[in-house]
Amino acid sequence: MTGASESTGTPGTADVISRVSARVGAIEESATLAVSTMAKRLKAQGEHVIDYGAGEPDFPTPAHVVEAAQRACADPKSHKYSANAGLPELREAIAEKTRRDSGLPVEPSQVLVTNGGKQSVYQAFATLLDPGDDVLIPAPYWVTYPEAVSLAGGSPVSVPTTAESGFRVTVDQLEEAASRSNPKVLLFVSPSNPTGVVYPRDEVRAIGEWAADRGLWVVTDEIYEHLVYEGSEFSSMPVEVPALQDRCLVVNGVSKTYAMTGWRLGWTIGPQDAIDAAANLQSHLTSNVSNVVQAAGLAALTGPQDDVATMRQAFARRRGLMVEGLRAIPGVECVETGGAFYAFPSLEGLLHRPLFDGRSAGDTLELCTLLLELAKVALVPGDAFGAPGFARLSYALGDEDLVEGLTRIRALAEGA
Ligand SMILES: Cc1ncc(COP(=O)(O)O)c(C=O)c1O
Repeated sequence: MTGASESTGTPGTADVISRVSARVGAIEESATLAVSTMAKRLKAQGEHVIDYGAGEPDFPTPAHVVEAAQRACADPKSHKYSANAGLPELREAIAEKTRRDSGLPVEPSQVLVTNGGKQSVYQAFATLLDPGDDVLIPAPYWVTYPEAVSLAGGSPVSVPTTAESGFRVTVDQLEEAASRSNPKVLLFVSPSNPTGVVYPRDEVRAIGEWAADRGLWVVTDEIYEHLVYEGSEFSSMPVEVPALQDRCLVVNGVSKTYAMTGWRLGWTIGPQDAIDAAANLQSHLTSNVSNVVQAAGLAALTGPQDDVATMRQAFARRRGLMVEGLRAIPGVECVETGGAFYAFPSLEGLLHRPLFDGRSAGDTLELCTLLLELAKVALVPGDAFGAPGFARLSYALGDEDLVEGLTRIRALAEGA
């Protein structure tokens, strides 16, 4: 083989060009996964780690769902490729479920079945964005949104919110951000990861009307729609603002509602042209979602819904324990939000002061590392969600562990 570098002694192309593309090389490791990996390592070493990092229910998938999957496994039809956009009976069930739960009028052809909500998010942005298009993302935000936007060739524009305003973005803040950027899309999520915030109906409507007036698309993530607690109510933006229905992609899935995170089943709903385009993309990417998983999803959506209610009740109770426990820790402030299974307290008061054994943390990244090291408690630093000074704690874990972890943090904060 010949090459300029061999004859000239200067570095060759392979030496100076990164081995992976700039686009993929720029992706940040998912901070939520990084924390759970660290926590898992400590657990494997025999430590009793309290893991507030997980973004998944601690409940098992309902038995009737597992049984449906077992039956599908034995059916030779499941062993072959099926329709790229999803099994017709599942698309029908998702359309029906959506009409039932949120009131959005949907035809089965407007449903694209995906490998989890995450694929739905990626495909939504890949379908809508060209270079130069910006996406407004209220912060704190779920880590995947900005990465998905960048990978799709767009640019994320963070719109910061504060704990004082309950982490809810206002039309004025959105307008200000839009006036200094070139937005094509607004990302909206309620209930939210990482804050758990649920927007009241009138605010959903006001934001939707603003987006419609500005001619923006909205990607709205409804994956936590059923995890909403007393005092809060889920409302769907394209239902509140019908004018948006022609410019709105709804992301949803079974992961959180039915404790099915490992099954990988989600979907996108939207206007026919956008869904057809996203389905085209999917046909070259992953093709159909596993038929066994689709059968499980069908059973989840059409079968008894009692497990959802049981889980919601448990989360509601744990939310109370979590918020009360956090507020009892000196230096911690916590807004109570109405949905998902996350608390998002400010830990500012724990920074720059000696904690247990005299060590102190300059930021929440350092603090979360210290908490894991010294108290064996895993939290996700807010930095990952565009909100330094805060941390995300999932309350999707057993009551006993939940309280034990808070006791450990409190002991550390009190310098015990
Ligand atoms: C806000 C939000 N949307 C979408 C997802 C994707 O979920 P999945 O890919 O498991 O369906 C998650 C998962 O954490 C999430 O928190």
